Amino acid sequence: MIEVKNLVKTFPAQGGFLKQGEVQAVKGVSFSIPASGAVTFIGESGCGKTTIGRILTGLESYDSGEILYNGMSLADLSPTERRDRLRKVQLIQQDPYAALNPSRTVAQSLTAPLAWEAKRQRRSKTWIEDRSREVLTQVGLNPDVVLPKYPHMLSGGQRQRVVVARALTVNPDVLVADEAVSMIDVSLRLGILHLLHRLCTEEGIAVLFITHDVAAARYVGSDGSLYVIYQGEIVEQGRTEELIQSPVHPYTQSLLSAVPVLRGLERPGEDRYIPRAEFTSGDSTACRFALRCRFSQERCRTEKPLVTTWGKDHHRHTCHFPAPRRVVAEPIENERL
Ligand SMILES: Nc1ncnc2c1ncn2[C@@H]1O[C@H](COP(=O)(O)OP(=O)(O)O)[C@@H](O)[C@H]1O
Ligand SMILES: [Mg+2]
Repeated sequence: MIEVKNLVKTFPAQGGFLKQGEVQAVKGVSFSIPASGAVTFIGESGCGKTTIGRILTGLESYDSGEILYNGMSLADLSPTERRDRLRKVQLIQQDPYAALNPSRTVAQSLTAPLAWEAKRQRRSKTWIEDRSREVLTQVGLNPDVVLPKYPHMLSGGQRQRVVVARALTVNPDVLVADEAVSMIDVSLRLGILHLLHRLCTEEGIAVLFITHDVAAARYVGSDGSLYVIYQGEIVEQGRTEELIQSPVHPYTQSLLSAVPVLRGLERPGEDRYIPRAEFTSGDSTACRFALRCRFSQERCRTEKPLVTTWGKDHHRHTCHFPAPRRVVAEPIENERL
């Protein structure tokens, strides 16, 4: 459905008098999103996940690379065709508070995109109302209860469901869910994750799920593919469950190590891989993770690793010294919970 090749995006550096140079947020990323199912991006804050999501939805420009929607490059389309194409790729952002207009009821929030759709399809007013109810039901809300409410009268989880419902009004092909649960109460997160999982498994919508949380990645995208992003580059990719079970790149291994487990539940023989430093900006002529990596050698600091296949064709990585290492999360004490 969406094919991205060698995407590059550079921002001018921000901030005061030190404002010099530029930030290369995305450094030649290639991936594809199939017509249905989930694709997950995982990586720490600042690695470029949001930028990629925004580029896909047309909210951000890009410097170079190619994005094909159903085999067609956006650059080859007329402005109207481009707009119609991009409407089918809907972004769900982290903050459902910011996404909804506080002075509009849920009914009003849904009517705006539906009115546009109704005009295009020459539909009646009752169609708009029926469709509002339909999308709310689709996301697990009771239309009678939520339609007259303002955003502040809803819980965070309900609000995020309304945001998803609004995205569904245009019958999207792809939902880009960018950290869609990270601002929602823990107790309500699972419901939203389940909703996203259901949309991609049962309703045939492709979901690009962007997260820094391995557990959430597993929940939504267990049967899809997983891309691990580090400083604007994909460092490892594969089938989600396979990759989480047997990562070979030290960065992926350290990401998995960061998930805590209860002391006493650790599995013997597994080790933790914690990066050496908090953050070091990598070098484009070397492995960008080299300075933080516990397994780096001279070659990692002098030669850029290429994309290499590990075992099966779909499992790829960029590491000079890949190795399966059994990873265990950091044990935490019961009392601390
Ligand atoms: N509008 C912008 N202007 C300048 N720099 C930006 C902008 N958006 C993102 N960046 C920079 O690009 C990098 C990637 O950011 P982002 O895509 O938000 O990462 P993530 O979503 O993985 O946390 C960061 O270094 C960030 O500071
Ligand atoms: Mg982000």
